[in-house]
Amino acid sequence: MTSNEIREKFLQYFKERDHTIAPSSSLVPDDPSVLLTTAGMQQFKPYYSELNPITTVHPSIKKPVGKNAVSIQKSFRTSDIDEVGDESHLTFFEMLGNFSFGGYFKKEAIRYGFEFIAGKEWMHLPIEYVTVFDPDKVPADDWRKSVPFDRESYEIWKRLGLPEEKIRKDGVDVFWGPTGNEGPCGPTTEIYVKNANGTPVEIWNIVFNEFYRGKGMELIPLKVPGIDTGMGLERLAMVSQKVGSIFETDLFLPLMQVLELNDRTNKLNQRTKRIMADHARGISFLIADGVRPSNKETGYVLRRIIRRFVVNEYLNKGIQPYFERMLHVIVENYGQFYAELSEDFIETVFGEERMKFVKTIETGLRELDAVPMLDAPAAFKLFESFGLPYEVVKELGGEKARVLTREAFEKEFEKHREVSRAGVEKKFGGHGLLLDTGEIKAGSKEELKKVTRLHTATHLMHQALREVLGAEVRQMGSDITPERTRFDFSFGRKMTPEEIKKVEEKVNKIVKADYDVRFREMPKAEAEKTGALHFFKAKYPERVKVYYVTPKGKDVPEAWSKEFCGGPHVMHTGEIGHFKILKEEGVASGVRRMRANVESS
Ligand code: ALA
Repeated sequence: MTSNEIREKFLQYFKERDHTIAPSSSLVPDDPSVLLTTAGMQQFKPYYSELNPITTVHPSIKKPVGKNAVSIQKSFRTSDIDEVGDESHLTFFEMLGNFSFGGYFKKEAIRYGFEFIAGKEWMHLPIEYVTVFDPDKVPADDWRKSVPFDRESYEIWKRLGLPEEKIRKDGVDVFWGPTGNEGPCGPTTEIYVKNANGTPVEIWNIVFNEFYRGKGMELIPLKVPGIDTGMGLERLAMVSQKVGSIFETDLFLPLMQVLELNDRTNKLNQRTKRIMADHARGISFLIADGVRPSNKETGYVLRRIIRRFVVNEYLNKGIQPYFERMLHVIVENYGQFYAELSEDFIETVFGEERMKFVKTIETGLRELDAVPMLDAPAAFKLFESFGLPYEVVKELGGEKARVLTREAFEKEFEKHREVSRAGVEKKFGGHGLLLDTGEIKAGSKEELKKVTRLHTATHLMHQALREVLGAEVRQMGSDITPERTRFDFSFGRKMTPEEIKKVEEKVNKIVKADYDVRFREMPKAEAEKTGALHFFKAKYPERVKVYYVTPKGKDVPEAWSKEFCGGPHVMHTGEIGHFKILKEEGVASGVRRMRANVESS
């Protein structure tokens, strides 16, 4: 089965069983307790908490998903970065998942898993074995020791006809906990299928969220237990296509071919090629979701994988335009599912970082020449300051790097990682949010009022920018906090002070005239016909809201601004207050960033 057929089958299977199809959310999650989206459940996290009953409006489809949902979610796991290159690990991957929030539980979830994998009209694959949670397999001092044996799952598998020797009991690996320090968790059951090499591979993880783990690691039983499952599309394609690694599936073959065709010197070993294929996808999707290389958080993750990629391009006889060719293939294969993949834009962001980094590598190599001895601390310093990875230092360091081992280098690395992780936790620790749409964040009622005013002001600014600069202005991103609104848009040059002033004046004119703000809900196709602005990178559901800003007392046909949006907004522009632009700057080639605020009321 091709990977596209697998996607279709999966969504179809669950749609037929009363699941709402939810679009993938961004790799950059709304949830401040994690840096990147690592699983399909991420966007549904609030649904599992009693605090947010299932009427919670889903951020990407802008309406409640109901009790059951299914998705194909872009995911990124930094935790697997060192495993990339083996048969089955990746940084970026797509996760197929079905979810229930008080709809169904173990019996149905296991049966669905069983039927979809083994069923004749579905994947029709032989199950090698499954696992269930047993505290006897958990170490004595572990907090999961007190969770009872999952007898129910054991019995369900037996009733489905699995012989006892195929139902394995396991410990901490089959208890799924939140990656941040708080969230839903519970025992899991995993399904293993053999690949073409005869290796059993974990295909599907079915999590039974029975508890909520609080800040102090305490387990609170959930009143409404939920289902959260995750199955890697690449792994499923591997077993379905009867190959021995994910890199031989139709999801990777075209990328591997680009590498092979370009590897004229035959210098790239298999592991390196796999890493480059993985990283090319990761880089493309991170950039498409708004991440930019930097020294912090997600920006740092992106910078690291770009650097690793570029080093290999560089070692393989200077700069080969590998990335551009791979990107082309990626956009060709994924563009139909992920509209945010803009080839030109990704190429520009990558190209700039590559240029900078190659200069750094060259400086680093001079430094490497000057250092008398390359032990682990010296090598790590070269990595820190110049991004020279272990392999480069080891390979180009020659005799001086004889004492250097990967183990020692990694120890240095760990030390550093602990320090930076502590920083991240401190920053995000315990910040509960009242509103978080990904775009707009507020922690209290007061803040909510402020961000709502800023949000409407952002719509006005968007329209004013188009009137002043031209209709090619398109929204590229936005982020609203109680301190300010930040708006990224496509435009080729710095704005003049006159232009900035004009935009400000236009917005303030609309504020003074106290226009009405109203919305209409309609099918997406119809909304598109209205000419309402929308954010190119977002994937909209079948029904959307269009917000209109109309002269006082006038209706939709006379709107001054119209935009796809989920709200919240003020009712009248007069509530916004005086609008002021704080700063205009470039963030990438062809992209400008505006910061603005409204005066306090
Ligand atoms: N959230 C579960 C996982 O990531 C399904 O494995």
